[in-house]
Amino acid sequence: MSNYHIKHLEEYYQVYRKSVREPENFWEEVAEEHFMWRKKWDNVLSWDFSKPEVKWFEGAQLNITENCIDRHLATRGNKTAILFEPNNPNEASISISYKELSERVNKFANVLKDHGIEKGDRVCIYLPMIPKLAVSVLACARIGAIHSVVFAGFSSTALSTRINDSQCKMVITSDGSYRGSKTIDLKGIVDEALNDCSCVETVLVVKRIQSDIHMESGRDKWLQPLLDNASSICPVEVMNAEDPLFILYTSGSTGMPKGMVHTTAGYMVYTAYTFKNVFQYREDDIYWCTADIGWITGHSYIVYGPLANGATTVMFEGVPSYPDYGRFWEIVQKHKINQFYTAPTAIRALAKQGLEVVEKYDLSSLKTLGSVGEPINEEAWHWYNDNIGKKKSPIVDTWWQTETGGIMITPIPFVTPTKPTYATLPFIGIQPALMDENGYEIKGNQVDGRLCIKFPWPSMARTIWGNHQRYKDTYFSAFENKYFTGDGALRDEVGYYRITGRVDDVIIVSGHNLGTAPIEDAVNEHPAVAESAIVGFPHDVKGNALYGYVILKDTGESRDHTNLRKEINQIITEHIGPIAKLDKIQFTPGLPKTRSGKIMRRILRKIACNDTSNLGDTSTLLNPEVVQSIIDGAKDSK
Ligand code: WTA
Repeated sequence: MSNYHIKHLEEYYQVYRKSVREPENFWEEVAEEHFMWRKKWDNVLSWDFSKPEVKWFEGAQLNITENCIDRHLATRGNKTAILFEPNNPNEASISISYKELSERVNKFANVLKDHGIEKGDRVCIYLPMIPKLAVSVLACARIGAIHSVVFAGFSSTALSTRINDSQCKMVITSDGSYRGSKTIDLKGIVDEALNDCSCVETVLVVKRIQSDIHMESGRDKWLQPLLDNASSICPVEVMNAEDPLFILYTSGSTGMPKGMVHTTAGYMVYTAYTFKNVFQYREDDIYWCTADIGWITGHSYIVYGPLANGATTVMFEGVPSYPDYGRFWEIVQKHKINQFYTAPTAIRALAKQGLEVVEKYDLSSLKTLGSVGEPINEEAWHWYNDNIGKKKSPIVDTWWQTETGGIMITPIPFVTPTKPTYATLPFIGIQPALMDENGYEIKGNQVDGRLCIKFPWPSMARTIWGNHQRYKDTYFSAFENKYFTGDGALRDEVGYYRITGRVDDVIIVSGHNLGTAPIEDAVNEHPAVAESAIVGFPHDVKGNALYGYVILKDTGESRDHTNLRKEINQIITEHIGPIAKLDKIQFTPGLPKTRSGKIMRRILRKIACNDTSNLGDTSTLLNPEVVQSIIDGAKDSK
């Protein structure tokens, strides 16, 4: 079909205009020509942002795994679907063909069924980046179980919160994981989490590191023998278009993470269509996204989007620094990667290593480079463009969110002229709006405001699991009849968008979204802590790092600050995970507060950035005198 693969800028504008003028016709054509439906829809779209309620392809029936696997078998059975590159470069990589993937998914799906998992049940997946992670995701989808993948760097408390929130019946995990030169005791973390989860009946355990672990009798089962005995035929569960496909948790401004619910048909159509166009994927290309499947990028652009296109998608188990900082480039050379999709934080870390580690490798296979997760700074953009893309491979700076399901603002490679730090133009069908503080849309170019989307797109999250009111309050209440992203953006003179960063209490550290509230809650658990406030400050590799202001309880005793800092970070690691550790902790007698008792984070942010020249009007504070003492204290904080 002509508009599945966009080839030049004029065509982009043409297709874009159509997608905005006649969205239903547009998406109907895409859906009709490129997917396998058990039954076609009765209605393409119904929506009401005031409720909010959005339905795409209502009445349609399908199974996403039939689209990602079965329909490729006739023409691509022997083509590699998943190419697995292990943590240890001396371990062989593994190619899984579409045919093998089909068998593996069916066997796994039968094991799930044998353990009582039915359509609509929630299954938590807590696995490292090994093929079983993708297979278990697809196995759930095949039988209509709702997967909830939890990134395997989260702590036991974070895991149990997520398991309980969606009442998962099963957990799929491994005996452990490899991460560079380290091993991590994943099963131990699961055991600890499950002390607080009565909903879990079964734990399936994948053997990865051959460690000696505790197996709870009646609950824990080794997966492999079950797979060995399972049938490789498993008919699909026929799903309705709007049946939930998965839940994925993202941080919010309160302690409780938000379980974003994505549904089946719209998510499939949009992730497949964006994958094809944003990466300009061609039949024999090898595509590699370095994200973890524990994040939305992995769901949409390692698993579903690529497989729906019959692509070869690489899964990498390790880290960019192991055995040395050349690993990414070694993999690009080894597998002749054509599309490479990574995060600015990784680019910055690699750029610091000097060019020798890059120049050792042949990167000539690369055609398109991608960036996602946070704004890419100009220096990193140029380094990536000059040294990795050799100024020949366009960079697609893709802006999107867990909530949006798919890429929303992005260049199309070889079509949209790129511009450093700009995500450029809205993707087909996406209607962004910049809003001012009074709730009015700012028209025209060379303006900035809060980024909203004013018309539904197929892969938007439909609700927050168990809390539709919170979904409405968070995304549809700030601006009438619009989805509010939480990001600020500017639009330049030609209509290109540049995302300027979060305007709420979420801080992006190394590409991971962290809400300040859950971290503060964790810090406040320390018996010596009375109150705390967390803000972000710029960091040359992580993008942002965390700065904690901590008020200690007045016990009359003096405390060893070095130990306290360690203990506080230990608590954060236990409650959330090491990704949320504070880089700096300042003990302070007070925090600047408004008369209504709200912490003035603006001031704390400026002090953390060492920018105290213009703190604005502090006279309206309840306690203006505290500001100077924080500035003085900042000099000694570590
Ligand atoms: C930020 C990741 C600037 C943004 C897919 C967004 C970006 C949040 C970009 C979502 C980008 C993501 N440029 N900022 N290209 N991509 N962000 O849910 O603040 O993990 O709201 O989804 O990351 O992060 P999430």
